[in-house]
Amino acid sequence: MRKLIVAGNWKMNKTLQEGIDLARAVNEKINGQKALVVLCTPFIHLSEVKKVITKSSLFLGAQNCSSKSAGAYTGETSASMIKSTGADYVIIGHSERRAYFKETDKTLNNKIRLALENELIPIYCCGEVLPEREAGKHFDVVQSQINEGLFSLSNKEFSKVVIAYEPVWAIGTGLNATPEQAQEMHAYIRDLIDDKYGKSVAGDTTIQYGGSCKPANAKELFAQPDVDGGLIGGASLSEEDFIAIVNSI
Ligand code: 13P
Repeated sequence: MRKLIVAGNWKMNKTLQEGIDLARAVNEKINGQKALVVLCTPFIHLSEVKKVITKSSLFLGAQNCSSKSAGAYTGETSASMIKSTGADYVIIGHSERRAYFKETDKTLNNKIRLALENELIPIYCCGEVLPEREAGKHFDVVQSQINEGLFSLSNKEFSKVVIAYEPVWAIGTGLNATPEQAQEMHAYIRDLIDDKYGKSVAGDTTIQYGGSCKPANAKELFAQPDVDGGLIGGASLSEEDFIAIVNSI
């Protein structure tokens, strides 16, 4: 069964105390919603946020993990360390990591493997930048990111992965993809998965939309047949907005 998942990506926001307060407020308002909810916090928040989560549909996630498993890699945080905090999810390949930290699909493929080995569910991000969309290359870009990042996985491995389509031009800009643009790309991604892994795996894969998703547009976006929830940046920093988005599924 395909899961509906709304994940908040806090990015590099919130002090530890602010993060705990936000997580506590979200936890209080989780009450029988249709979607699973994930809080993707900075590393330093993970174990403390875990302590305030009491609802069975609320999960913890990280925003990145190292492409190395352990050792002399100063400043890195491994998938096994993340798992040991009680987290279940990890965002991999966010466009900000691709752009600012030069993460390549090959590196991201290593991260995906380490996440899976450590029983973390990867939320793998893909999406085109504006000039690529304007040049009509958005399908090719997303195909290549998915192909290089994910398609070396076995059927069993792939079936654990969540995909987030995040058009880069929509991230933090206030300009979301239209429901039609999102649906078109999500259906395309599902077709790629169908070709590679078959109908049943494709039908069960959660494909989230991310990019300026807010209470005012979430309902329409989530109503699309291939949009299975969202990866929420700015609006996940406010408990009211985030819960309103979760409730619009
Ligand atoms: P915004 O919701 O702030 O546009 O960010 C989306 C995002 O990057 C989530 O990962």
